[in-house]
Amino acid sequence: MDTTTDAALVRRHARALPRYTSYPTANHFKPEIGPEIYDGWLAALATDQPISLYVHIPFCHALCHYCACNTKAVRRYDPVSRYVEAVVGEIGIVAARHRARLTASHLHWGGGSPSMLEPGDIQRLAGAFAAAYDIDPDGENAVEVDPRHLREDQVAAFAAAGVNRVSFGVQDFDPAVQAAIGRLQDFAVTQRAVDLFRAHGVRSVNVDLVYGLPLQTLDSLGRTLDDVLRLEPERIATFGYAHLPERMRHQRLIDSSTLPGADDRYAQSQAIVRRLVDAGYARVGIDHFARSGDSLSSADLRRNFQGYTSDGADTLIGFGASAIGKLPGGFVQNSVAAGEYERRIGNGELATARGFAVSSDDRVRAFLIERLMCDFRVSMRALVDRFGEAARPVLARIGDVARGDADGLVALDDDRLEVTERGRPFVRSICAEFDAYLGGSRARHSMAV
Ligand SMILES: C[S@@+](CC[C@H](N)C(=O)[O-])C[C@H]1O[C@@H](n2cnc3c(N)ncnc32)[C@H](O)[C@@H]1O
Ligand code: SF4
Repeated sequence: MDTTTDAALVRRHARALPRYTSYPTANHFKPEIGPEIYDGWLAALATDQPISLYVHIPFCHALCHYCACNTKAVRRYDPVSRYVEAVVGEIGIVAARHRARLTASHLHWGGGSPSMLEPGDIQRLAGAFAAAYDIDPDGENAVEVDPRHLREDQVAAFAAAGVNRVSFGVQDFDPAVQAAIGRLQDFAVTQRAVDLFRAHGVRSVNVDLVYGLPLQTLDSLGRTLDDVLRLEPERIATFGYAHLPERMRHQRLIDSSTLPGADDRYAQSQAIVRRLVDAGYARVGIDHFARSGDSLSSADLRRNFQGYTSDGADTLIGFGASAIGKLPGGFVQNSVAAGEYERRIGNGELATARGFAVSSDDRVRAFLIERLMCDFRVSMRALVDRFGEAARPVLARIGDVARGDADGLVALDDDRLEVTERGRPFVRSICAEFDAYLGGSRARHSMAV
């Protein structure tokens, strides 16, 4: 593709769109879905299917200027231990609603920074999960870690809790970029954290990077990638910086005039693909990379709230403030504020604040969007086999989208809608064509390129 065509395409598709980590997206969740509905959904869960568990730890030592996660900075540990107490309570409240003891094939400790937890609290949470669920010892047990402030006794506690995958926040190694994003993190600090987990037997390492950050250039990004490769991570997840200062006040600490424009963001994302593919990584979905042999590079890929995963479970139960769950009936999200969450759990109630009951049309669109985001193709026969008559309106839409595609982003044969190589960087734009709720909500989303 020549650069003029690239530039024109980027301009046309550089608009705010969802990242499609779920469909419908979380901004459409409604307060009508509360504890009573969640209670019914929990009781209706099949008892012979493995589920996935997520626990949210919404605390960090300090807020990074760019951060879009549900978290807050704490100076003292008391709020964290109070919170852990509530999560232990919630695990008991939720598990009591299942008809039988369920098996979990995945456990994900996310945040915020689960690496804020003291060893005793890591042990308490792991113990509460093990008391309520059969945790598959061959399953995935993953934790998100901020390499700064990490102590070896915490690493030992995560390893003892069965953690077998670790994901480190890096974002960028350039000192000027780090100063601009309010996150100073030497290479040596990151290397030490990686070494500590590996020494404790946690061998699967992921590194998170962000492009489109203030002051980032192709040169600085190239140096960051060289450093990241020295860490020899099994996986690398990259994210385009979502700058939403109207919604997230602390992002106003970032000077918007220093942000790369759409063309530069696009060039950065393409440079990342070239460098990591050259280094032997397989591309996974739009923005993840995995060494060959890693389960993500060979797995039936799925998309969840953390990005891409090999987790095939259809049910995800989320614990903690703001945590989102996905059940056959739809989505639920807990109260976002930790205080409100703790109060409700303290009263012995479920802490559901909002959610979404999915219709049969939503299920068809969710399946199609997930397949496009993961495989860049979807089979119309698979849609009909799976959803029958409910697939009809979406099949008609596939025809319209293919006919209206003036940019060569998709190709349609008698069975498959396929995203072309040229269309891959714009797959969120293609998915948006199938989003029945997008309407006027675009200002809430990040740049699609
Ligand atoms: C929960 S943090 C990772 C663990 C730990 N808190 C840390 O930062 O080291 C989740 C990841 O989301 C990504 N992220 C956060 N804010 C973002 C934003 N505004 N745009 C794009 N990615 C973002 C970063 O790559 C970050 O590592
Ligand atoms: S990026 Fe990670 S460490 Fe920084 S504020 Fe967000 S959750 Fe906390």
